[in-house]
Amino acid sequence: MRLSSSLCARPGHGLKMKEIRVGLIGCGNIGGFHCRVLEEVENAKLVAVADPNAALTSALEQKYGCRAFGDYKDMLAWGEVDLVSVCLPPALHFEAVEAAAKAGIHVLVEKPLDVSPQSADRMIAVCQNAGVKLGAVSQHRFDPAIRALSDLINRGALGRLMMGTVHVIWYRDPAYYETGGGWRGLKANQGGVLMSQATHYIDLLQYLMGGVDSVSAVCETLLHNIEAEDTGLALLRFKNGAIGSIEATTMAYPGLMAELNIYAENATICVRNDSLAFYESKTGKIAELDALLAQKREVEAAVADPLALDTAGHRAQYLDMISAIFEDRDPVLDGAQGRQPLALIDAIHRASEQGTWIKVD
Ligand SMILES: NC(=O)c1ccc[n+]([C@@H]2O[C@H](COP(=O)([O-])OP(=O)(O)OC[C@H]3O[C@@H](n4cnc5c(N)ncnc54)[C@H](O)[C@@H]3O)[C@@H](O)[C@H]2O)c1
Repeated sequence: MRLSSSLCARPGHGLKMKEIRVGLIGCGNIGGFHCRVLEEVENAKLVAVADPNAALTSALEQKYGCRAFGDYKDMLAWGEVDLVSVCLPPALHFEAVEAAAKAGIHVLVEKPLDVSPQSADRMIAVCQNAGVKLGAVSQHRFDPAIRALSDLINRGALGRLMMGTVHVIWYRDPAYYETGGGWRGLKANQGGVLMSQATHYIDLLQYLMGGVDSVSAVCETLLHNIEAEDTGLALLRFKNGAIGSIEATTMAYPGLMAELNIYAENATICVRNDSLAFYESKTGKIAELDALLAQKREVEAAVADPLALDTAGHRAQYLDMISAIFEDRDPVLDGAQGRQPLALIDAIHRASEQGTWIKVD
């Protein structure tokens, strides 16, 4: 693996930690957002962007003083990039990750990691064989409410987990599915609501509840003129004996909320639109949750606008990825973590098609 000289300076060795040079592959909606996030990330510098759309790359080149490439392979061959962020339509993720890994460049991949669990397995193997770090974006895992909940669950403070539910009741204007060259809404791009919009809360549910054993589901395309589902309902059996459900849609005008509810032996907890909404505990006050409620964290919510995103989650994800590179460890959200929502949503799709309970692979 090629490591730039900038990576030789490690924290704790009395040397100033140098910058990781980041290249962006794909400069559409989330690509432009990554550029904004990178301005807030210590020890990272956006050095290059790549996209066949020259209007997009030259605007970013001017704004951020980085190099612009039409073909990401030229950016990888340039030799001045330590980490690439893959912000392409999902069906293009694998090819870009493989090219970066073969060039010895670490990779952070936007959600979904890939388009199937099988392809994700190949992606993980390609990065392992090349000795590069693979990070999978699921930025809400870094939200303060989710960190606090995970900690409370791991300490056993909530008692036995009994049920977990997710409600992603969003609206997308039909025009949304026409943008980006028409990749949205295609099955080959995992363009249904479960993977495109609800994947964040689905990932949080399986992460906090401890993994899903099996699912039954109904997925339908009720409003939008798209190939994949715009609405999905699923029942879940978790590995720990708890049960749960998922309701997800992009047809609910004007877009209501994204909500995660955890029903545990000692407490009921609700996270709504990325913040702790309320909790009730049988065993007295929970200081961490009271602190979160007191902060009244205001966040933008993407219930109707796909670009209403808070930078904090992606910033935390970059900070972890960069520390992982410097410390030569796996990022907290590695390829195996990125595969989990893919495997779950793949099982939900198959359960709906086959009308039966399906084990999650
Ligand atoms: N984490 C989040 O909250 C979040 C939010 C939105 C999108 N996403 C994910 O980000 C990815 C991109 O979504 P988007 O909304 O930005 O899509 P988009 O259509 O707005 O942008 C995709 C960009 O990729 C470019 N592109 C296509 N082929 C290319 C190639 N070979 N080389 C370089 N660039 C190429 C296109 O020109 C376009 O600019 C998807 O996987 C999506 O699921 C994540």
